[in-house]
Amino acid sequence: MSVWAVLVAAGRGERLGEDRPKAFVRLGDLPLLAEPLRRLDESGWVDHVVVVAPPNWEEPAILLAEELGASKVSACVTGGETRSESVRAGVAEVPADAAVILVHDAARPLLPDEVVGRVIDALGQGFDGAVPAVPVSDTVKRVRDGVVEETLPRDALVAAQTPQGFVASVLRAALDRGEGSDCASLVEQAGGRVAIVAGDERLLKVTSRADLERVSAWL
Ligand code: CTP
Ligand code: MG
Repeated sequence: MSVWAVLVAAGRGERLGEDRPKAFVRLGDLPLLAEPLRRLDESGWVDHVVVVAPPNWEEPAILLAEELGASKVSACVTGGETRSESVRAGVAEVPADAAVILVHDAARPLLPDEVVGRVIDALGQGFDGAVPAVPVSDTVKRVRDGVVEETLPRDALVAAQTPQGFVASVLRAALDRGEGSDCASLVEQAGGRVAIVAGDERLLKVTSRADLERVSAWL
């Protein structure tokens, strides 16, 4: 059973507001991309990695993989305008005989290997997909034009993270359906059964400068 990881790093990082894409902003001594790339490459669960880079940043991504000695990197491709397009570009590089595809946000650099294990485990139990998630600590409300319409029951809510894992054929079919804010939502819409497994606070997604500082303190 071969496991392919698609590492999506093609976003612009507009909210971070640096002079370069988020994946190439410095985290410690290296570009942020180095951390999730090294962790996926070292994971015993992962056989091959596809990196999805921003336009004109393919070359630096390949050089970084070489510098890290990331020997599982099979391809580095250019991303698209949206996250879903970038995922599609990465998945297109995954060969037909792959059993499982993991999709991970480069913007979540601190990937604990136990989380990868839990995702793969759920797929082994027959789910179409598996998503790591953490409980929601704030009360969440549905709002329209500044007015509360509903307070959602918090015990039924979780915050989804990545890596999200899928039976390869299920993800390919779901990606043909269009756009979603994560891959699991496309698989859910297609009627797939998606398990929730325990995520990890360290999988915080770097969005703002404060997130970057938090993640670098945890390095
Ligand atoms: N991503 C991507 N291609 C896109 C948009 C996003 O590969 N067209 C990736 C990002 O590189 C990131 C992940 O999807 O690893 C989650 O996206 P997000 O945190 O929104 O990153 P950015 O889109 O880069 O940030 P912003 O929305 O602030 O511009
Ligand atoms: Mg974005």
